[in-house]
Order: sequence, then C-alpha cells, then structure tokens
Amino acid sequence: MIIAVHNTRGGVGTTTIAAHLCKLIQELNITVDAMSVDPTQELQRWLKPHGVRLIEPDRLSPQARQGDQSFAEVLVIDIHTSQVSPVLPDLWIVPISDRLAYEHAVQLSDALSGDVVWLPMKGRALDQADIPAYLKNAITIAPQVPFSRALRAASESSRLVWDDPDLAGTAGALALRRSLRQVLDTAGLTSADPALQLAPVAAGVLRDPQRLQPAQAQL
Ligand SMILES: Nc1ncnc2c1ncn2[C@@H]1O[C@H](COP(=O)(O)OP(=O)(O)O)[C@@H](O)[C@H]1O
Ligand SMILES: [Mg+2]
Repeated sequence: MIIAVHNTRGGVGTTTIAAHLCKLIQELNITVDAMSVDPTQELQRWLKPHGVRLIEPDRLSPQARQGDQSFAEVLVIDIHTSQVSPVLPDLWIVPISDRLAYEHAVQLSDALSGDVVWLPMKGRALDQADIPAYLKNAITIAPQVPFSRALRAASESSRLVWDDPDLAGTAGALALRRSLRQVLDTAGLTSADPALQLAPVAAGVLRDPQRLQPAQAQL
C-alpha cells in the first residue's frame, strides 16, 4: 500500500504527518518504508532514530522494480508542494491548516486518483459542507489535529512528538495519533479482514504498470 502525504501549499504539516505515520505503522507491526520527494529531505531528519528505510524515488523506475520484492508492506511518501509522486498512491493524505491550504486541497484533490483524506491541521475545522459537491464521494475528513505548541517544539528538535515524554501526553500529540490511526483503520490497513487489506507495494506496482506513470500527468 502506498500512502502519499501532500498539499501543494507548504507549511501545512505534511512532513510532520508523514514522519509520525511511519512510526505509527511500525508500532502496529506493519513494515514500512519512507520516501521523501522534497529537495530539503526533511523526513530523513525525523526518521533517523527509528530505522525506517528511505527509498530513493528513482528506485521505483520500471527497470529498478524488475524482480525487486524487497519493499515493505507500506510506503509512506512525503511530497513537498510542487513536487510530484513517482508512483500513483493508493491513498492521499492532504493536510489543511488554513484557508489557502484548503483552496489548494480542493484543486489538488480534483486531480488525484485513489482515496483522498483531508486532515485538518493546526486547529483548522472542516466538515462535510466544506467538500464541494463534485468531490463528495472522493474525500473523507480525518479527525482534526489542534494547533499544538508541542508539535512545533518537537519539529524544532527533529524528534517525533511521541518520543518526548514531556510532549507525548499533550492534546496535540494524542490527537495526531488518534487521527492517523483512524486514517489507517479507514484505509483497511489495520483491519483484521484480509479482504480489506491492500496488496504490498511491490506486488501492487508490478501488477499494474499504470501506477508507474508519474502522477504529474494527472495534475
Ligand atoms: N498541529 C500543529 N500545530 C502547530 N504547529 C504545527 C502543527 N503541525 C505542524 N506544525 C508546525 O508547522 C511547521 C510546518 O510543518 P511541516 O510538517 O514541516 O509542514 P510541511 O511539510 O507541509 O511544510 C513546523 O514547524 C511544524 O512543527
Ligand atoms: Mg515538508
């Protein structure tokens, strides 16, 4: 299963979500790889202590994939603003932290294939009425993550907020866990029913060559 975190607006919490999502998936005993489509490679900084392998985007080229079954069950991709995913994700998490991020999210979501989850960040509230009618069937809204000084402090020290005993119990840290857990449950990743679980990354990519085309074609 491939999960991309992306909004064409920056500073919305994309990397924060991608990093914590990797950790949460690990805690659920599901294997996870990460990929950073971001010139600043910020995700690397967060994940270093956690042994999450970072896959280079060019490893997903058709040549590189031939016979390569060594990928984890889930790939989490952090896609920075104008960057493009090298593979079509099964699930997009689009963080929305303010009005502009919302406008970007509407435009972006219209161009995405796969399931789309809007994740209200930094106290931004969103409900069904915020989803334009033509997108209603395509988007679900995850539980909100409040504005959190703990999350900001964590990112300043490049530590996951759940790793710092002083920050892990704060409302923001708990809300982030709750929200991401719900996204995984809704995606069927943590469901006990195998029928609801998506195929591991390598199998999925090799089965459907369409998925190897850059998502840019759609944007
Ligand atoms: N819920 C939140 N409340 C307050 N600050 C947040 C929250 N989520 C993220 N931030 C802060 O916003 C800034 C941008 O987050 P980041 O994850 O780097 O965004 P992006 O990857 O979209 O540019 C960071 O300083 C981060 O700590
Ligand atoms: Mg980022």
